[in-house]
Amino acid sequence: MQQKTRIAPSILSADFANLGVEVQRITEAGADYIHIDVMDGHFVPNITIGPDVVKALRPHSTRVFDVHLMISPVDLYLDAFAAAGADIITAHVEAGPHLHRTVQHIKGLGLKAGVSLNPSTPIDEIDYIIDDIDLILVMSVNPGFGGQSFIPSQFDKIRRLRQRIDESGRTIDLQVDGGVNAENAARVVEAGADVMVAGSATFKGGPDCYADNIAKLRGGT
Ligand code: DX5
Ligand code: ZN
Repeated sequence: MQQKTRIAPSILSADFANLGVEVQRITEAGADYIHIDVMDGHFVPNITIGPDVVKALRPHSTRVFDVHLMISPVDLYLDAFAAAGADIITAHVEAGPHLHRTVQHIKGLGLKAGVSLNPSTPIDEIDYIIDDIDLILVMSVNPGFGGQSFIPSQFDKIRRLRQRIDESGRTIDLQVDGGVNAENAARVVEAGADVMVAGSATFKGGPDCYADNIAKLRGGT
């Protein structure tokens, strides 16, 4: 069943020189999850942050730390992100080589496990893992950078995943990440998403606008 809409600002669009303060600001502005994009310069063509930064940010918010790993291999780093304070860890199905093992590892650490699908990846990749996961992340842009445009074909993927989740009878977050903004948020929710990641749409205009930006994303629902 589709759950209440939650907003997960991606700190990729925050001021990196003031990351702790930025996390506090979005927390006060109404963020439900703090979405942390981890990139390795290998799985995706960009490099961002590692477990030490997550650990440093942890005292700055009591909200859910939602760690999106765009790295390959994944398994080597799971313990470090758990120890740093992640609540949810999401791995890409394309990152390989053993998604089931990765998911069991995340759950074994006592965390919620997510799996992410790139825009061109079909939904049947989740057929044999859906009973083990807590979150499905639909990438609505190619991973690597903030500020890209939403790829329209992903509306259909969200709808089909909504159906699959409902058929499963399980409580699984359906998260959409990339190019979500106040203009398309209502359609994203209407298609079946219940967690919206938003980087540029949260941080645009600077700190005075964060609360309003988040409210607009929510209000789009
Ligand atoms: C892209 C990241 C996203 C990104 C979203 O690889 O996973 O979380 O930061 O940024 P916007 O909302 O600007 O598309
Ligand atoms: Zn992300």
